[in-house]
Amino acid sequence: MMSHCYLVTTFILLVLAKYGVADKKHTFSFEIRRQKTPTEQYINHGHHFGRKFQEVIEGPGPRDNDSIALYRFLDDEFYGEIVIGHPGQKLNVAFDTTWSYSWVISSKCSSIKTIGCYFHNKYDHNKSSEYKKDGRPFAMDLGTYNLTGFYSYDNISIAHSNVTAQSFIEMVYVPYEFVFNKADGVMGLGLKTDENYDPFFYTLLKQKKIKNPIFSIYLNRDRQSNRGGNVMLGFVDLKHVHKTKVGKKIVYDNFTYLPVENYAYWQFQMDQVVVKVSKDNNVVVCEKGCKAIVDTSSNAIVGPQADIAQIHDAINANEFFLHRYTVNCDTVNKLPKIDFMLGGTNFTLSGEDYTVKMSYHSVTICLSAFIPANTIQEQDRWILGGAFLAEFYTVYDVQARTIGFVKTN
Ligand SMILES: *[C@@H]1O[C@H](CO)[C@@H](O)[C@H](O)[C@H]1NC(C)=O
Ligand SMILES: *[C@@H]1O[C@H](CO)[C@@H](O)[C@H](O)[C@H]1NC(C)=O
Ligand SMILES: *[C@@H]1O[C@H](CO)[C@@H](O)[C@H](O)[C@H]1NC(C)=O
Ligand SMILES: *[C@@H]1O[C@H](CO)[C@@H](O)[C@H](O)[C@H]1NC(C)=O
Ligand SMILES: *[C@@H]1O[C@H](CO)[C@@H](O)[C@H](O)[C@H]1NC(C)=O
Ligand SMILES: *[C@@H]1O[C@H](CO)[C@@H](O)[C@H](O)[C@H]1NC(C)=O
Ligand SMILES: *[C@@H]1O[C@H](CO)[C@@H](O)[C@H](O)[C@H]1NC(C)=O
Repeated sequence: MMSHCYLVTTFILLVLAKYGVADKKHTFSFEIRRQKTPTEQYINHGHHFGRKFQEVIEGPGPRDNDSIALYRFLDDEFYGEIVIGHPGQKLNVAFDTTWSYSWVISSKCSSIKTIGCYFHNKYDHNKSSEYKKDGRPFAMDLGTYNLTGFYSYDNISIAHSNVTAQSFIEMVYVPYEFVFNKADGVMGLGLKTDENYDPFFYTLLKQKKIKNPIFSIYLNRDRQSNRGGNVMLGFVDLKHVHKTKVGKKIVYDNFTYLPVENYAYWQFQMDQVVVKVSKDNNVVVCEKGCKAIVDTSSNAIVGPQADIAQIHDAINANEFFLHRYTVNCDTVNKLPKIDFMLGGTNFTLSGEDYTVKMSYHSVTICLSAFIPANTIQEQDRWILGGAFLAEFYTVYDVQARTIGFVKTN
């Protein structure tokens, strides 16, 4: 959910500004450099994660599978590359399970007037022979900020798959915070909610570019790496599933599948959340069950204020800034485990999983991934972001409308 994405990014920048960086000019140039470099770093290190994007396969038949590499930017954003139009224009997009729409920054968004468009790759429909006009306006009021643009159609290709005449939004206004994001837009992986709008994955199926109505998401837990993980279109990759050796046999953990309750959000029922403080002290929140969604666009785990307060009490976290909490870094490996019970199975996070260590110059903080919800709509819904998803591989079935979870390898 993008508001958190912005919040966390802005927060980190504020932390950097607050801590011991007398030279503001230097801080600024550091951030800009980060804006420009993740892809370059990736290339320089020669990491090969998933398959190469531009590799073109012969033959138009539907594929069983396809895989998109995700990169990580700062702490909270996972993004990958897409190619739009002909000749292809390359843009980075965040793959977001909380959105059904896809959008990119338009060349009509003036970097001079709209700071948020600065430093971004922009899509120019005038340079694409496959562009088809739609032109209907798009406006979304997200409370603290607005997004404004218009609909267009063009070919979009991701990894080995491409679709024709995908409907998407060209944004002509984005909030200034967007300047901190590496992504130039969003590829919505939410379920179809609008009869008149086919999300990208539905177009892939409709145009028979892919066989199976499922995709799966693996997020890399190594925070030092900008290789953020993979989105797998049409398949589950067993190499991301936790396995045990029983005698000579390898046994993979089973996915826990849950029905989806709210089609916009891949929303499901969570049974309870238990902080195992000590043998005879369990702090239980979401005691009678609660609603939850997954969010690939942010690292945070967001919950109702009262519940997050109880968790922060139990892990001795202190408010640091902007509703973000820190724990003493020396205690991280002794922090209680937290069980998220889904469909009767416990999905357990340890202190290392739900905290993020951040260093800048000589300052190191250990930030809690838990954030209290700041809007009324979110008071009864948990949002499980990257801190959770890095430990659990998820599979999404758009036909059966189920979501599956399994421990990652
Ligand atoms: C898109 O797919 C068509 C046919 O499947 C292929 O000829 C074309 O090269 C692909 N374009 C890209 C950019 O991958
Ligand atoms: C994915 O599907 C393609 C074509 O359907 C096949 O050639 C390829 O081997 C598959 N790759 C994996 C990793 O399953
Ligand atoms: C766009 O779609 C058209 C129509 O299917 C196709 O001929 C063309 O190769 C596609 N271009 C790209 C760049 O994928
Ligand atoms: C495309 O070209 C037309 C006419 O040359 C111009 O009016 C329009 O602003 C251009 N669109 C973009 C997105 O630059
Ligand atoms: C967003 O748009 C609505 C309607 O156009 C407007 O009332 C509101 O003030 C805008 N909010 C922001 C933060 O710009
Ligand atoms: C997975 O499910 C199958 C069939 O229900 C069962 O036989 C198997 O033991 C399960 N595997 C694990 C690791 O629990
Ligand atoms: C899940 O965790 C809860 C609380 O920590 C515990 O009471 C329960 O027995 C666990 N369930 C399983 C199946 O391990």
